[in-house]
Amino acid sequence: MTSKSFQSPDPRRVYVETYGCQMNLADSELVGGILKSGGYTFTGEMAEADVVLLNTCAIRENAEQRIRGRLGLINARKRSNPHLVVGILGCMAERLRDQFLEEERLVDIIVGPDEYRRLPELLESAFEGERGIAVRLSRVETYDDIEPLRTEGISAWLSVMRGCDKFCTFCVVPFTRGRERSRSQEGILREVRNLAEGGYREVTLLGQNVNSYRDGECDFAALIKAVAAVDRSIRVRFTTSHPQDMSDALIEAIATTENICKYIHLPVQSGSDRILSLMNRTYNTAGYLRLVEKIRRAIPGVSLSTDIISGFPTETDEDHAATMALMREVQYDGAYTFLYSARERTKAWEMGDDIPEEVKSARVTEIVAMQRLIALELNRPLVGTVLPVLVEGPSKKSDAAYMGRTDTNKTVVFPHQHEAVGDTLQIHIERVNSATLFGRPLVAA
Ligand code: 5AD
Ligand code: SF4
Repeated sequence: MTSKSFQSPDPRRVYVETYGCQMNLADSELVGGILKSGGYTFTGEMAEADVVLLNTCAIRENAEQRIRGRLGLINARKRSNPHLVVGILGCMAERLRDQFLEEERLVDIIVGPDEYRRLPELLESAFEGERGIAVRLSRVETYDDIEPLRTEGISAWLSVMRGCDKFCTFCVVPFTRGRERSRSQEGILREVRNLAEGGYREVTLLGQNVNSYRDGECDFAALIKAVAAVDRSIRVRFTTSHPQDMSDALIEAIATTENICKYIHLPVQSGSDRILSLMNRTYNTAGYLRLVEKIRRAIPGVSLSTDIISGFPTETDEDHAATMALMREVQYDGAYTFLYSARERTKAWEMGDDIPEEVKSARVTEIVAMQRLIALELNRPLVGTVLPVLVEGPSKKSDAAYMGRTDTNKTVVFPHQHEAVGDTLQIHIERVNSATLFGRPLVAA
């Protein structure tokens, strides 16, 4: 017997892998906070872990397939370490509980997005060999009092509301994450003050439909202004915005508050009124274009991005052409494009999935190619200008270069000199492509 056995046992080590959207990244940080309070420690190496948790996404079928593949690999590891506890968190939890837990016995615990407080208890039981499941959705849970365990960096995700009540017909989120509910303004501001003290330089307010935030009298416009006022040297971003909830007050807040970034992700999904109506998006293209015009008038130089789904049930070549036309008209700085993926329980599931995958792919390819040209045209006039860039760290492609982003969310790459992460540098832009600006820092006089 070693002397170690007279001490308390080593804390158990948790390895978390996160799939999907920023909300999931923020949720993994919440899970980290909950487990840290429960006495757990963390590792970035699956091989060292006593607990492996996958925080999952269900938005499209390929997201689910990736997780299945991953589970296969983890179970191979379980053969050499039978004490390893494997858990599924997040959006796939509810849907796959029977299959994963009972039929395939792939996992030990399954925990949905509103039940993370129960993780320590479920893990303890799992170590005793008991499988556990907690997938109930809540109308009130916002984890307002939980301090997320953030990984090092200068940017923080901060979720301000959970769930979604919009019920776009293609989207599984209202079923996997439940009804809309907002955190308290007080709790959010407390967290922002902590972030400011902790040296964070950027905060992104998150919600599936962040503009519908409300705590009593405080709507999203009031909230973001209050967040920005905590520390004027911190950049404030937000995502995602449903066009229907993009209020005049919010536009004005962005226009008139220096440290709220001039960048709006404003998913349109389709440029065809017929498809928008089938999607239950609650606006038509004319209304959307009016909104864009209003935003552009109020916030000169604002950068806009969108999400587009190709191959929604019954989408014709004409509908697709209408999407291309709308994108040409708006001139987005960026677009995320997706092949439609039919999701059980949604309204669109019942409409069938009649567009062949090759057609969906061909449409996405066309959109991506066009969007690349648009972004390049928008970036070209930036050559020769000097832009403030918040330094984030080494660039992905080269250790000799650093990267950061402009207020308008454009990625800028520049030679590594002795820049400190978190500094804002004036960068002279020398060349651009559709995705990135390249330049060098102005030397201080
Ligand atoms: N199929 C394809 N894309 C989808 N999205 C949401 N649901 C689906 C689906 N069933 C896209 C939307 C949304 C983004 C986060 O994911 O464009 O804005
Ligand atoms: Fe899904 Fe629509 Fe809600 Fe976005 S607004 S999460 S697309 S239902």
